[in-house]
Amino acid sequence: MEQNFNEYFVYKEGELYCENVKMETIAQKYKTPVYVYSKRAILNRINEYKEAFSSYDTLICYAVKANSNLSILKIMAENDIGCDIVSGGELYKAKKAGIPSNKIVYAGVGKTDFEIEYAIRENILSFNVESEIELDVIDEIAGKLNKKARVSIRVNPDVNPKTHPYISTGLRESKFGIDIDDATYVYEKASKLKNLEVIGIHCHIGSQIMEISPYIEAVEKTVQLIEKLKDRGIKLRYFDIGGGLGIKYRPEDKPPSIKEFADAVIPLVKRTGLKLIIEPGRSMIGEAGVLLTQVIFTKDKKSKHFIIVDSGMNDLLRPAIYNAYHHILPIQKKEEKVVADVVGPICETGDFFALDREIDNVKRGDYLAVMSCGAYGSSMSSNYNVRPRAMEIMVDNNRCYVIRERETYDYLIQLENF
Ligand code: LLP
Repeated sequence: MEQNFNEYFVYKEGELYCENVKMETIAQKYKTPVYVYSKRAILNRINEYKEAFSSYDTLICYAVKANSNLSILKIMAENDIGCDIVSGGELYKAKKAGIPSNKIVYAGVGKTDFEIEYAIRENILSFNVESEIELDVIDEIAGKLNKKARVSIRVNPDVNPKTHPYISTGLRESKFGIDIDDATYVYEKASKLKNLEVIGIHCHIGSQIMEISPYIEAVEKTVQLIEKLKDRGIKLRYFDIGGGLGIKYRPEDKPPSIKEFADAVIPLVKRTGLKLIIEPGRSMIGEAGVLLTQVIFTKDKKSKHFIIVDSGMNDLLRPAIYNAYHHILPIQKKEEKVVADVVGPICETGDFFALDREIDNVKRGDYLAVMSCGAYGSSMSSNYNVRPRAMEIMVDNNRCYVIRERETYDYLIQLENF
């Protein structure tokens, strides 16, 4: 039996499909590069999250940074999912997509006055505050607006999530949150500021986490703090444990299931009686998307075979900056294999999707699907080398919807002046 990478992108007689649409049809009709998402994959993950956390009062806040396409945010809104945001722009998109303000939480170490005012006016559920000075600024701005701002403190529990250093956020030396040892003092201060309502506690330790144990450690440490705060008369309502659950990038990867994650954290959070908030990004959307690209040329140098494709680090930055592995599949299987570097057209040596990879022997004109690109793919894309961003397509069973048009050259110069 044919092994498929996941159940949404499957081979039928050697041809790759997304749900019931042939990838070749998409490539020919819409051209490449194009991000292709499976709606069923997204809905299934949403339902898995809901099911796994159904035994406890939980607000699921999708991390918009993973993929902020409006159609994807709308799917979240339609399924009662809230949002975790990190900028005014994300707030704007979340609201446009219909996410209600009382389901929006806002983290980030550098919120500007403009962004703070915007979020207070929108009456979001909570600011996840990352420094003492931020507390003062939110208090001041809320005062000017004659409003009360709800805040939670993001604590840094000093836990190693055992992931890539660039996406570890819960270590003492990282820029995120307030050291857990200083948190009591900061809570006491916050509770005295008259334009703030202190409602919760937040921690997020990192991303692409492949083990449950760092979560247990972080949540246990935070539970201790919650109990200490309670003894001092500071009563909270929300316990936000962040996101970070890993996904499958390599065929052999076995990330923890959402249920395993829920079963590990719910009993710990239950002890506090607080309402739980989770902020999944990658695990909601990552495996639902692929980047479809066409081989422009193949080229041989002394000991290397290169497959040069029409998409590069401007569309998918992860290999260049984290040396991230993305599995690559041909959309039509070939008999023969080669070992190759799969590279983009950009003028940087870091512009690669795979190095020394055994892969089907594709030729000029063939198409490749770069797997697990639903999260931190399009959302991290750029126009480097004046390349228009890729189109984005949502597949729903046997239908395709263009959820973002391909950028045009005219669009790229619209904001520039002579
Ligand atoms: N909550 C907060 C406060 C976060 O900073 C993040 C991600 C999340 C939730 C969602 O984490 P997730 O469930 O997606 O792991 N660009 C990197 C990932 C950066 C993650 C930043 N924060 C990558 O491509 O791997």
